[in-house]
Amino acid sequence: MEQRILGSQGLAVSAIGYGAMGTAVGYGPSDDTESIAAIRAAHDLGVTHFDTAEMYGWGVGEQLLGAALAPIRDQVTIATKFGFTPAYAPNSQPDHVRTVVDNSLRNLGVDHIDVLYQHVHDPAVPVEDVVGVMKEYVDAGKVRFLGLSNTTPDNVRLAHEVHPISVVQTEYSIFARESEAFFPVLEELGIGLVAYSPLARGFLSGAVKPRSEYGPHDFRQRIPWWAPESYDANVAIVDRLTALAAEKGATLAQLAIAWLLAQKDYIVPIPGSRNASRVAANIASADVVLTGADLARIAEIAPAGGVVAGR
Ligand SMILES: NC(=O)c1ccc[n+]([C@@H]2O[C@H](COP(=O)([O-])OP(=O)(O)OC[C@H]3O[C@@H](n4cnc5c(N)ncnc54)[C@H](OP(=O)(O)O)[C@@H]3O)[C@@H](O)[C@H]2O)c1
Repeated sequence: MEQRILGSQGLAVSAIGYGAMGTAVGYGPSDDTESIAAIRAAHDLGVTHFDTAEMYGWGVGEQLLGAALAPIRDQVTIATKFGFTPAYAPNSQPDHVRTVVDNSLRNLGVDHIDVLYQHVHDPAVPVEDVVGVMKEYVDAGKVRFLGLSNTTPDNVRLAHEVHPISVVQTEYSIFARESEAFFPVLEELGIGLVAYSPLARGFLSGAVKPRSEYGPHDFRQRIPWWAPESYDANVAIVDRLTALAAEKGATLAQLAIAWLLAQKDYIVPIPGSRNASRVAANIASADVVLTGADLARIAEIAPAGGVVAGR
């Protein structure tokens, strides 16, 4: 698979990565054996970048990913994140960061983390102080590259003054375009973008269902695209995108991932799937070539801000 460069510090990864959140939380029950097979299938098909977080099962997701990757640890890059409390409030207090990062190293079973992200900006702690703590781990050889997620362009600028930031991770898909506001700062400072929820949390997967068909703890109970007053309009957009994908011999999910790859050469989408054959289908997006005319049709079907986000 094509390699992409994230940042200016030497981080090179496969153009499509793997997001491991669903192996622990978010989208209903998962089977560990099947998840590990999905992770290994991703590597077999060329994926070298794997993404997790403390928050994905409070260590459980990191343990599963670490176990799956242990035999191939030296062939992959692993990213993890700190910065939430169990009530999903931000916490980047220095002592908390140190505790979580030490736990992440243990949970993953690694002597270094390739990319360490602050998961969410904490208004109680200046980002410069947070990056100062993250830098301690770089200096100790326990972290290779630094990243920020769920932040602002201004915070990226402030953080980068303390230690180079290699990658920003934001939600980015045909349905979620707000991340484009980061492009100028990323290009000015030479920082890569990891696109999370590239399939719009499954809305662009080809398998979207109404909210009532997901479990009570499924994250999609709270995602506005699924709000009853918005759902049908968004499905109508998806139907038109699916028809365009079919004209190109691709699936909707493949069109959605290929669209991200076509936006900027420093973007790496990290679709998540707990199923090996769906992982393989997602990776095949790397072979879908979108022309300028295709991109224009996608822009017409789903213009930025044109997706309906209900309550
Ligand atoms: N930084 C952050 O705050 C943040 C937030 C959210 C996510 N992330 C990262 O981004 C990664 C990806 O995002 P995500 O998992 O939220 O959403 P996503 O990749 O946009 O979509 C995942 C959903 O789509 C389904 N799916 C995936 N491929 C499919 C296919 N080919 N056909 C049918 N269904 C398919 C998955 O189900 P199955 O598993 O059943 O296939 C799952 O329900 C996460 O794993 C995580 O690493 C980061």
